[in-house]
Amino acid sequence: MIFQTRLKGAKATLNVNGQHFQSIWFDESDDSVCIIDQTRLPHRFEIVTLNTLSDACHAIEAMQVRGAPLIGVTAVYGVYLALLEDPNQLAVALDRLAATRPTAVNLRWALDRMNAALRNTLAEKRVEVALQQARAMEAEDSAICADIGTQGVKLLQEIWDAKLDKSKPLNVLTHCNAGALAAVDWGTALSVIYKTAEVGVPLHVWVDETRPRNQGASLTCWELGQQEIAHTLIVDNAGGHLMQQGLVDCCVVGSDRTTITGDVCNKIGTYLKALAAFDNDVPFFVALPVSSIDFTLIDGIKEIPIEERDAEEVSHLNGIDEKGQFSKIRLCPEGVAVSNFGFDVTPARLITKIITEKGVFDAQQSQLQRLRN
Ligand code: MRU
Repeated sequence: MIFQTRLKGAKATLNVNGQHFQSIWFDESDDSVCIIDQTRLPHRFEIVTLNTLSDACHAIEAMQVRGAPLIGVTAVYGVYLALLEDPNQLAVALDRLAATRPTAVNLRWALDRMNAALRNTLAEKRVEVALQQARAMEAEDSAICADIGTQGVKLLQEIWDAKLDKSKPLNVLTHCNAGALAAVDWGTALSVIYKTAEVGVPLHVWVDETRPRNQGASLTCWELGQQEIAHTLIVDNAGGHLMQQGLVDCCVVGSDRTTITGDVCNKIGTYLKALAAFDNDVPFFVALPVSSIDFTLIDGIKEIPIEERDAEEVSHLNGIDEKGQFSKIRLCPEGVAVSNFGFDVTPARLITKIITEKGVFDAQQSQLQRLRN
């Protein structure tokens, strides 16, 4: 059974028990940085305080924070925390943070910006400048993600306007979590969904569970639930079947790195959804900030480094048991060989449009290079 969002003007962003949260924020009372621990969602809503460079690196590596924009903002706060410890450890901090996760280019982009702002700053001024920069980038990310959503509304509205059977909602399929939890606020793909709900389009979202870490099942479902956006969780392999049955009007996903030619690297499994969408004439949209475009790359399949992660993410499942306790179970024979690539590349030819804060573009170099400056 497909439920339909009834709430018009759904409030975007994370509203937990009536209180608005960002995924990351600065706590002026004790010079620390706060995050929502995403490894505990949806079962527990826990805030973790980051006080040191090591805390920031751990938060990114352990995926307490994840999602390309949020990784970038956490990293710049990590530089600030490092300089609080020792104003002379800028280079060490940049190197350590850059090594935390390889695929999302926002990390490198954010650290490059931080480096440019700090390398010629006197040691005694560095902490102050680093905090100003980090807070500015936090605010900027939120505004950019809100704009991405606004830019995407017209695409979804057009599909809704053309939909003949208005007794059914606009069915959007998404993969992984490209929502407020993947950025400071709003998100990218989910920002488009939130903003489209705000203008009154009746929406229903198919949420890919997104093995192996299940960010769709745990994070996207939680986030959409907070916003009262109708959604249904599906196994990763269901999308093709749903498209063949006419149950998907469009797909909207995020991106961790996009080449200047329009190839998009996103969570593993995105490529297969794009292939199924292409075969079924379902529009496939990618929503991303310009900071996710790597203007140095031409061929995503050959050039984008794909993160390989721990085998346990595939061989085991994490969740809570009937007693509400966190627990881990093994799915496969002990010691089985496991491969765990975190991302894949969707070639530009399979992408209908790229939605950015600066407008909507074809996945083509002639269009994307206009965003370079
Ligand atoms: O491994 P993750 O959870 O960091 O992967 C996240 C994604 O793949 C998102 O789709 C991507 O970062 C875009 S986020 C706005």
